[in-house]
Amino acid sequence: TDAKPEIYKGLAGVPVDYTAISKVNPETNSLLYRGYPVQELAALCSYEEVAWLLWYGELPTREQLDEFTALERASRAIAPNVLRAIDDLPLSTHPMDVCRTAVSIIGANDPDAEDNAQEQNLRKSKHLFAQLPAIVAYDQRRRHGLGLVEPRDDLDYSENFLWMTFGEESEPVVVDAFRTSLVLYAEHSFNASTFTARVIASTLSDVYSAVTGAIGALKGPLHGGANEAVMHTFDEIGSADRAAAWLDEALARKAKIMGFGHRVYKNGDSRVPTMRTALESMVEHYDRPDMLELYDALETAMGERKNIKPNLDYPAGPTYHLMGFDTETFTPIFVAARVVGWTAHVMEQLASNALIRPLSVYNGVDQRELPA
Ligand code: SDX
Repeated sequence: TDAKPEIYKGLAGVPVDYTAISKVNPETNSLLYRGYPVQELAALCSYEEVAWLLWYGELPTREQLDEFTALERASRAIAPNVLRAIDDLPLSTHPMDVCRTAVSIIGANDPDAEDNAQEQNLRKSKHLFAQLPAIVAYDQRRRHGLGLVEPRDDLDYSENFLWMTFGEESEPVVVDAFRTSLVLYAEHSFNASTFTARVIASTLSDVYSAVTGAIGALKGPLHGGANEAVMHTFDEIGSADRAAAWLDEALARKAKIMGFGHRVYKNGDSRVPTMRTALESMVEHYDRPDMLELYDALETAMGERKNIKPNLDYPAGPTYHLMGFDTETFTPIFVAARVVGWTAHVMEQLASNALIRPLSVYNGVDQRELPA
């Protein structure tokens, strides 16, 4: 018999390429964006600066930041055909599907969509970056029967995102927690959606196709969809005193507990402490200690039963809930943040491209003859 080649299910533990964009280090529980610890970036930088860093490899100079900021503010309005397409979708459409559709049309509107020159792809990356908040915000509003809120160019990216969602200015403490979540969500090496984007880019397709595909990959509850699933879990449990019993029942039926576990981090997600601090600030701001009690009760029970730690989606879900986002809007916010990482990876892939095409090992029936 032939020796069977080894299969790496889910590509677990298989390095498939180099990246200079971020370093996920499970040994030290750390995450670096272009060499900078993500916690420090979250504390000190605007989301616009972090986006620039991820795309260009260096923080922007004052002049570069001013120019980028002006461009971003001038590129926020949704094109009429994108708005019409969103309005044509049923209200029951999952917001991730709305995002996916909108990005697809934004690509269709770009006469240079197929031009993969680096400066074109940087332009497209910045354009998607500026457009996504409007799409995410408007989709939440229309599901409440509310109209589009025009962007305000006196507000920065994070402030304007909240403005377009809620139609009022948010308190600085809320903006800060939101911006922190965006910085933490921006990039995470070869996760499933980023890898999807790189696979699409590797065929020399275009940025919009790569981002559309990545949105599809992010939607699933084993990946980005977990932040919204966490909120459903919280709703189901109801209060801290019921967390342990709920968990025992869920584990008994072999359910996966959303917001826990990670393919790479086995001792805890490097981003969780920073996001938990942001959650604490929202719990205090909205006076909802019950939320943190439930959060801690489930985390503790999960630690005791399975020794499995929370991932970033665990603190992010309740944070967005307290801010007033609908549960179905959580993963689209992740899209708006991760579009930076996706586009940075598309450009890195193209800079030293090899078609991504692994092998499979056939285990179907042997060759046979068609029935006569
Ligand atoms: C993200 O890759 C990235 O970087 C992703 C991300 C990013 O920034 O891009 O960090 C964002 O996607 C975070 C993950 C969000 N997903 C969830 O929260 C869904 C719940 N988590 C799990 O399903 C799971 O932990 C995964 C999918 C995240 C990772 O799973 P693996 O590496 O494939 O591991 P596994 O499913 O094979 O689990 C190993 C063991 C199993 O037990 P045994 O069969 O060995 O006894 O751990 C158990 C699992 O049952 N386990 C869990 C669990 N996670 C792992 N059991 C219950 N609940 C869980 N959440």
